[in-house]
Amino acid sequence: MRKPLGIIGGGNVGEALIAGVIQSGLFSPEEVRFSEPRPDRRDYLREKYQAPAAKSNLDLVAHTPILILAVKPQSVPEVLSEIGPALKKDHLLISICAGVPLDYLQSYCRQPIRMIRAMPNTPALIQKGATALAPSPQAKAEDLSTAEAIFQAVGITVIVKESLMDAVTGLSGSGPAYVFAAIEALAAGGVKEGLSQEAALALTTQTVLGAAHLIQSTGKHPATLRDQVCTPGGTTISGLYAMEEGGFRLALMNAVISATRRSKELGEALRTTPRPSSPGGAKKRKGKK
Ligand SMILES: NC(=O)c1ccc[n+]([C@@H]2O[C@H](COP(=O)([O-])OP(=O)(O)OC[C@H]3O[C@@H](n4cnc5c(N)ncnc54)[C@H](OP(=O)(O)O)[C@@H]3O)[C@@H](O)[C@H]2O)c1
Repeated sequence: MRKPLGIIGGGNVGEALIAGVIQSGLFSPEEVRFSEPRPDRRDYLREKYQAPAAKSNLDLVAHTPILILAVKPQSVPEVLSEIGPALKKDHLLISICAGVPLDYLQSYCRQPIRMIRAMPNTPALIQKGATALAPSPQAKAEDLSTAEAIFQAVGITVIVKESLMDAVTGLSGSGPAYVFAAIEALAAGGVKEGLSQEAALALTTQTVLGAAHLIQSTGKHPATLRDQVCTPGGTTISGLYAMEEGGFRLALMNAVISATRRSKELGEALRTTPRPSSPGGAKKRKGKK
């Protein structure tokens, strides 16, 4: 793998990636560089991970062949108008920015750039993420392998076509929130039946973890595992019947469909957002050294 790795934006996911690639041994601390406008955040990351901070985004682009764009989607026009013209054919740009299409990133560049669009989720912060990866037409097989290795340092990866990235956002990107809501509701049911808050939450969380591990470790379909625990006339089928009455499965399917639609809308809105007036004319940020 080409080195060093450059991370633009040392926020939540930027930090998770710095931690993941160093802790997995994929990169040594000095092989992971980052750019981050907030001096206090820069110092924190440098001290915690011993990873060198770049002087600027352009400094990072000039000295790192693999770049991860980890800024908020609304910062993308500013950052791309700055770095886009400096990107060269031998760069690999990996973007984790939700709802930002690859051709939009490419439109800021002077030449065709090898890119991968990645959609991780919040459990990546504890190396339990699920990331979908979609390559640009210029990306090579080795670029996809590089991205897989980086995101496998913070969880699992799947490869999809870019046209499915909105569906990924609606499923695994937003998915942790659906699971949090389900855990909260299950625990509330336990409390209603007399369990303490603490016991109900501990039992629910471990039940969800255990059930998910069971699917992964057996490779069995969840419907098979569900049927295995349904004794005819028993308690579990009775609970499942109540869930069907409440439209549980339809509600989850609709959650994914609705979030996917919203992701598409946000991507479209980005295309109509006015661009920073001059290329390279990124706004000066308060507090930036
Ligand atoms: N969080 C998730 O679970 C998740 C999941 C999937 C995808 N994503 C995507 O990941 C990206 C990052 O999300 P996040 O949660 O890590 O956001 P975040 O914590 O706000 O991190 C973004 C970082 O970029 C910095 N930044 C802003 N402008 C910059 C510039 N011009 N040059 C360099 N750095 C700049 C920000 O600094 P300041 O704080 O000073 O502005 C901040 O430290 C987003 O595009 C999001 O859509 C996140």
